[in-house]
Amino acid sequence: MGDYILSLDQGTTSSRAILFDRAQNIIGVAQKEFTQYYPQEGWVEHDAMEIWSSQYGVMMEVIAQSGIRPADIAAIGITNQRETTILWDRATGRPIYNAVVWQCRRTAELVDRLRANGLEGHIRQTTGLIPDAYFSATKISWILDHVDGAREKARRGEVLFGTVDTWLLWKLTGGAVHATDPTNASRTMLYDIHKLDWDDTLLQALDIPRAMLPQVRSSSEIYGYTDIQGARVPIAGIAGDQQAALFGQTCFTPGDAKNTYGTGCFLLMNTGDTPCVSRNGLLTTIAIGLDGRVEYALEGSVFVGGAVIQWLRDELRFFPESRDAEYFARKASDNGGVYLVPAFTGLGAPYWDMYARGILVGLTRGTKREHITRAAQESIAYQVADLVHAMEADTGLPLRQLRADGGASRDGFLMQFQADVLDRQVLRPAIRETTALGAAYLAGLATGFWSDREELRRLWQCSACFTPAMPAPQREHLLGQWHRAVARCRGWAQP
Ligand code: G3P
Repeated sequence: MGDYILSLDQGTTSSRAILFDRAQNIIGVAQKEFTQYYPQEGWVEHDAMEIWSSQYGVMMEVIAQSGIRPADIAAIGITNQRETTILWDRATGRPIYNAVVWQCRRTAELVDRLRANGLEGHIRQTTGLIPDAYFSATKISWILDHVDGAREKARRGEVLFGTVDTWLLWKLTGGAVHATDPTNASRTMLYDIHKLDWDDTLLQALDIPRAMLPQVRSSSEIYGYTDIQGARVPIAGIAGDQQAALFGQTCFTPGDAKNTYGTGCFLLMNTGDTPCVSRNGLLTTIAIGLDGRVEYALEGSVFVGGAVIQWLRDELRFFPESRDAEYFARKASDNGGVYLVPAFTGLGAPYWDMYARGILVGLTRGTKREHITRAAQESIAYQVADLVHAMEADTGLPLRQLRADGGASRDGFLMQFQADVLDRQVLRPAIRETTALGAAYLAGLATGFWSDREELRRLWQCSACFTPAMPAPQREHLLGQWHRAVARCRGWAQP
């Protein structure tokens, strides 16, 4: 057996490939950003061929750069931006439309129609989700409506649908395997998370042919093989990036939770065999499909997390590097009364407002770049605090501590502020690449590279612990002002 696991982490803004050895050391990382398309207000697209070429490119780069032989790779794990929707022609292998990205709001009115047709209760009960343009279902229907002849071809199985995992698996296996895993299926708003099958009522409501849907297999098994310079390497793990991070953080026991600070912020709590129904705007989703059964999670999804810092960097040109945000936030002794609600693509959990838009309030003549940067950093932590409070209300259990990961978790100011507004410890693991690690674990378990979850749990290490230090009245004041700002941005783009 090879000595390495290769993890392919296809995210919203970049494609990454990370090579792990058996002791979880990172042997190599390659990363490539790719183009974001915003063809209309609120629309977000990717070029699916660029997703594939950038992912393939970094895979080859990490192998070349680390000097290993492809035959040394025991298995490949795939993890991906979820919900993003790709339709392609089975014969040519070419997408029939750009990938419609999870952040894209173009189908908001289609979702309103599903609600008007009385399907909200059915969607919540069957899929565990709250009807929203975020999920794949209405995006598939939109592409079928807008590309000539696509629906007829899809009925004949000539046009295929996949989330990004499915697309990469299909490409890597030369078109031999059209499959996904339960974590990704559970984000389509078409999958019955109790019966573990596609739901005919929703397929009919959106006129989506079953023939175009991938087969749903476990999150950890050999799906097929890819040829790398003559070596036949098994692809043996798949999970949506947030579920992969939950697994990579070894949150295996009900009650364990993590938050990933990526483009968005995603708080997931393992609820074991029980799908926990939320009364507070959270989603019920599949945590993992393993050993012939699924485990569930409660999820809070925030659409703009770390992306608010990119926005300050790229659109407002506040600083050249994202990591500079920490410096400016620390320079301000407080937020100067400024609050930024980054509802750029609406608000996700716990508000679910497709028509909310961003707002910056509390500006005075003395407001500086430092205050706005600090308000942006704080907005990430407030949004996560809203998720934690909703999760505690749903489960009746206080969260003991929060495990943090993702790009923005390196920011010490943000982590400390998070601990302060939550009044809870925040733990940062030694390996912050938990998304890639989770996919590696799944591929490693399927191929006997690692033996079981206990072995993985023993390998998890904390590298930093942030302890709350903010007085309660200050915390309550900040959260109160945040909620006033949120209330002001609701429904702004309602037609
Ligand atoms: O649900 C969307 C999520 O999977 C995107 O994750 O890390 O690309 O922001 P990320």
